Amino acid sequence: MWFFRSPHIVFGEDSLSFLNTFDAGRIVIVTDKNILGAGLIDKVKKNLPENAETFVISDILPEPDYDNMLLHLDDVKKFAPDLFIGVGGGSSMDTAKILFALYERQDIHIYDITPLVKLNLRKKSHLIAIPTTSGTGSECSWAAVVSEKDEHRKNELASPEILPDYAILDPEMVLSLPREQTINTSVDAMTHAIEAYVARWANPYSDALAEKALELISNNILNVLNNPRNFDSRNSVHIGASMAGMSFSNSQIGLAHALGHSFGAVFKIAHGKTVGLFLPEVIRYNYKSSKSKYDRLNNLFSDDIRKPSLDLTIEYLFKKMGQPVQMNTMNINEAYYNENFDLLVELAENSTGIITNPEDINREGIETIFKKVHGD
Ligand SMILES: [Fe+2]
Repeated sequence: MWFFRSPHIVFGEDSLSFLNTFDAGRIVIVTDKNILGAGLIDKVKKNLPENAETFVISDILPEPDYDNMLLHLDDVKKFAPDLFIGVGGGSSMDTAKILFALYERQDIHIYDITPLVKLNLRKKSHLIAIPTTSGTGSECSWAAVVSEKDEHRKNELASPEILPDYAILDPEMVLSLPREQTINTSVDAMTHAIEAYVARWANPYSDALAEKALELISNNILNVLNNPRNFDSRNSVHIGASMAGMSFSNSQIGLAHALGHSFGAVFKIAHGKTVGLFLPEVIRYNYKSSKSKYDRLNNLFSDDIRKPSLDLTIEYLFKKMGQPVQMNTMNINEAYYNENFDLLVELAENSTGIITNPEDINREGIETIFKKVHGD
């Protein structure tokens, strides 16, 4: 028995106006200071039902730990909302999921959020996710990533009940996304699609979404980078990124995420940049089991981008976008890299992406990929 899980999706021009139709009067908005500063919360508020009262939490940090996520839980309980809206990247949307769960069930601990425990949420409120980047896929996932305080480790809490009720994909919310974040998040989304497509848990639903996601993103991303305020291209990439999120949420990620998580944790580099860094080499590693699927994906790229094989196509496109595919173009501290090499390998070895990658890999295999991408 297998499930396909997805929020209701509201997408395209003016989709924020859907909020107006939602029966809610006390609304918690979870976001970060940059999103607030960019005026995006004002856009959300303008679309809320008349007379709705809001409580805005705007101090969510990148990659938040438990303390940061739960800082306002007592205030949330006092406010007694009937709707939570996560507005932002993965950090804000994931925090909204956790606050929603712990407000609904005030008798449980954060660690009780697991796929195996029935939580019986939605007795008092609902959950909406509004992404302001085109990449994380958190709006479509039933997982929340929580960092461990002062450690390189991150925990992934998961429950089908923290899947948002609605994801609102309004291109207005990404029109002014800065170039660097546009690159990082779209690379992350393409990596989600490619890894989900060959993962051990891939299935016809995740396959269909991965194919369309990659087609939409790869055929529009260069236009977005050249014309950042092009509404149609932004809309296509935004929808594609969400489809990629839905794909990997119903399949899994793989080795590029395992290596990228490790590298990002040690070097404090943006998630999308690190997973993209390893993707071409991971494709080459997986070719023996996944060639036919990779070939099918390669055919989705337009003629002017497509090379004879997917690894080369991705390298070509990433270079055009300004996404590194070798560490020597990233200015990393060589001494720090050498000092932490064993830690990098160990963190990758213990990352969940290893389990669902189509090819098994051992410690030596991980070392080899690090060395290749390092240019040894
Ligand atoms: Fe990712």
